[in-house]
Amino acid sequence: MPNKKTPRIAIAILAAGKGTRLKSRLPKVLHEIGGRPLLAHVIAAATQVVPAPDVFAIIGHEAALIREAVESTGIRFVLQEEQRGTGHALMVARDALAAYDHVLVLSGDAPLITAATIVALRHFHLAHRASMTLLTADLDHPTGYGRVIRQSARSTAVRSIVEEKSASPAQKKIREINSGFYAFAVKPLFQHIQKLSTGNPHREYYLTDMAAILNRARQKVLAYKTPNPVEILGSNTRAEMVGLDLRLRAAKCQELMTQGVTIFYPHTCVIDSMVEIGPDTIIEPFVQLLGHTRLGSDCRIRSYSILANSQLGDGVLVRPGTLMDQARVASRAVIGPYSHLRPGSDIGEAAHIGNFVETKKLKLGKGSKANHLSYLGDAEIGAGVNIGAGTITCNYDGVNKHTTIIEDNVFVGSDSTLVAPVTIGQGAYIAASSCITHSVPPDSLALGRARQEIKEGWARHKRELTAAAKRARPKPRVDHPA
Ligand code: UD1
Ligand code: CA
Repeated sequence: MPNKKTPRIAIAILAAGKGTRLKSRLPKVLHEIGGRPLLAHVIAAATQVVPAPDVFAIIGHEAALIREAVESTGIRFVLQEEQRGTGHALMVARDALAAYDHVLVLSGDAPLITAATIVALRHFHLAHRASMTLLTADLDHPTGYGRVIRQSARSTAVRSIVEEKSASPAQKKIREINSGFYAFAVKPLFQHIQKLSTGNPHREYYLTDMAAILNRARQKVLAYKTPNPVEILGSNTRAEMVGLDLRLRAAKCQELMTQGVTIFYPHTCVIDSMVEIGPDTIIEPFVQLLGHTRLGSDCRIRSYSILANSQLGDGVLVRPGTLMDQARVASRAVIGPYSHLRPGSDIGEAAHIGNFVETKKLKLGKGSKANHLSYLGDAEIGAGVNIGAGTITCNYDGVNKHTTIIEDNVFVGSDSTLVAPVTIGQGAYIAASSCITHSVPPDSLALGRARQEIKEGWARHKRELTAAAKRARPKPRVDHPA
């Protein structure tokens, strides 16, 4: 039995709209800032305030796509099949919200909201026993937002909200705007929500009209003004979205720097929200760290490297122009310049991967080196191995992929091709330029190339023949003009 004194609180996130102003195939709330969808940011804040099953996303346009994108968060969904306005969105959530005392309404397209501000809104709403509390903010440029009409200048009580399109010139001068975040007591909300009408320029049920409706019903409607107006910024256009992305990434860089990370020219770096970096790591200009990338401490990531969903240990040096996707690199390894680590690359402690080396599903042991011009795919390579320049694992026979196994302390000479499946035993030696098609026993030498032949004097003889042929050729006649 829930304690009678603890109100049951749900969060509803409005996310059913199409986002017409974006001119996009993708629904608005799946557009990304900071490397993850708008809606995922709002869910992350919401689930810090209430348990995930008490969070309801109201979805409609491209509902299946949205559900799939954020299902793993454990929140619940309400389908608003036809999108007839923000008020209508709550009408369809009536059954889902019946079990709660209060609902906090968030907007799926305002991703900078923080848990602290949601908690402050909840606290204000409950402390004042309001029926409806709007989160408001003073903006220097309020154009486009609904304006808040207070009962009087000093009062926390709100008379109504006027949408931009319906606002008089005097009302348009009001700088206090409706953020689109609200707290409602569930009972009065659904007792009066049927009074909403579509008598407005958009022919929609506006949730904002609930302010005036609840007032007329003598219910308490209040405004709580946030001291952090940036948190309520919405993203209705591409330009607004890029602006939010910039803010979010700048804040991310600041946060990382307070945690002991050095980021040179942070405005040139693209660092996603979920990235984690240990102290004393240095990020050079024009680096991208994407997705769930995690770097240890004392690493250095040099310019023009792009690391996506990869994990690095401590003291790793990534030289310029390196690409990584779903790779793991252990401590003190050195990667690059211009290395390409593809999914499943697992580089051991203090190992080296150098210029123009491509790896895929590679396990490389401690201290092993592949420094130049190689392709290493579907391979398990032990510790202390040297892979010579230009070595290729031939992993694909046109139908299937096969594995190359190279045991500890093997030396692979330059320009070798290893035709998988093949195993090179511990301590073996592959002569340069070998084509290895059979497994090599430990501690042996394998030569897989044509034996060298010498033809003495051959080059001199060829030169003499050429010269003789040239002498024998008749001189071309030239007719000079008179
Ligand atoms: C809304 C407010 C406005 C406020 C602004 C803050 C209304 C009428 N106006 O305007 O006062 O200043 O937010 O950003 O509410 N949605 C649904 N179902 C619908 C319609 C919309 O779920 O039928 C969702 C949208 O996907 C979006 C959110 O509600 O995530 C807000 O809708 P939007 O059309 O962006 O409202 P604004 O015009 O920004
Ligand atoms: Ca909006």
